[in-house]
Amino acid sequence: MAVIGQDIKQAIRLLEANEVIGLPTETVYGLAGNAFNAEAVTKIFEVKNRPTFDPLIVHTSSIERISDFVREIPEKAQLLAKKFMPGPLTLLLPKKENISDLVTSGLETVAVRIPNHPLALELLQNLDFPLAAPSANPFGYISPTSAQHVDNQLGTKIKYILDGGECKVGIESSIIGFIGDEIIVYRKGGLAIEVIEQVVGKIKIQEHSSSNPQAPGMLKSHYAPRTQLVILNSQFSTGGIPLINSQFSIGFLGFREFHPNIPRENQLILSPTGDFREAAKNLFAYMRALDVRGFEIIYTEILPEIDLGRAINDRIRRAATLEN
Ligand code: TXA
Ligand code: MG
Repeated sequence: MAVIGQDIKQAIRLLEANEVIGLPTETVYGLAGNAFNAEAVTKIFEVKNRPTFDPLIVHTSSIERISDFVREIPEKAQLLAKKFMPGPLTLLLPKKENISDLVTSGLETVAVRIPNHPLALELLQNLDFPLAAPSANPFGYISPTSAQHVDNQLGTKIKYILDGGECKVGIESSIIGFIGDEIIVYRKGGLAIEVIEQVVGKIKIQEHSSSNPQAPGMLKSHYAPRTQLVILNSQFSTGGIPLINSQFSIGFLGFREFHPNIPRENQLILSPTGDFREAAKNLFAYMRALDVRGFEIIYTEILPEIDLGRAINDRIRRAATLEN
């Protein structure tokens, strides 16, 4: 297993030796390596078992430092950066030569993010290169929101995980790109679309598709847990699950309320007060907690399509193997 600790010097030593480490951020934990170094970037893909057509996000510590590896920042991107960075926002910007095709999977844009986490920022400030970091989960599984999650899944493959506690946002960053005058959301994430639109006006939502090369990594089953996860229609979630057969062991991941027809000890509720932020923070941790219980099936439900509910629903839909 990896060493889990808060030793920034150790993290720096490993990163400078082109090793990869577990990195805390406010969204989810990352698997970080020197973005300017091919050996480190190659290791990231290997450890994660990630296909090389799926590009990485590059993390830095300040807006000024973005220009180290980005050619230009469009006006609207600057507005968003000033308002929301550091924060759960990733901007797609034209890359400089020092970002290799390996990082961007051959795209001309690089994904850029400033994580809003004190330990991550301190680390980045003390490095003279930015960090490429995808979420620190094996490809196809849900993202980790604690150092322990990272260790459980990648602990045999990496030496060190910087422990920054539980992630406060809990879902990945919102990814925004700029094509001409258009502003496009490629991934709904920890920054709500409504909040982004307050700053730059209407934005376009690019639907996810595994065949769309403009949004690589948006594979439909991207966030799947191991146990079969089934979305209930609201008619069922209010009226009880029809045909529940007691020979099945059933779990339930609910938004606000317990399901009346399932044993309470088999249920986790994302936010009893209906708070989207709390729900996002708990989402992946609760999916994991239910996943290891060995249920035959886990039922879940869709949240209202507003605010962070949209990003949460996106994760739930990807994780679900079929809709009921
Ligand atoms: O919150 C986050 O964004 C976390 C933390 C660790 O920062 N990172 C994260 O990385 O979620 P990852 O690799 O799991 O997801 C990055 C997504 C991928 O779906 C990838 O396809 C997309 O960003 N992406 C990266 N560069 C891109 C580009 N130039 N154009 C379009 N999509 C890009
Ligand atoms: Mg990921």
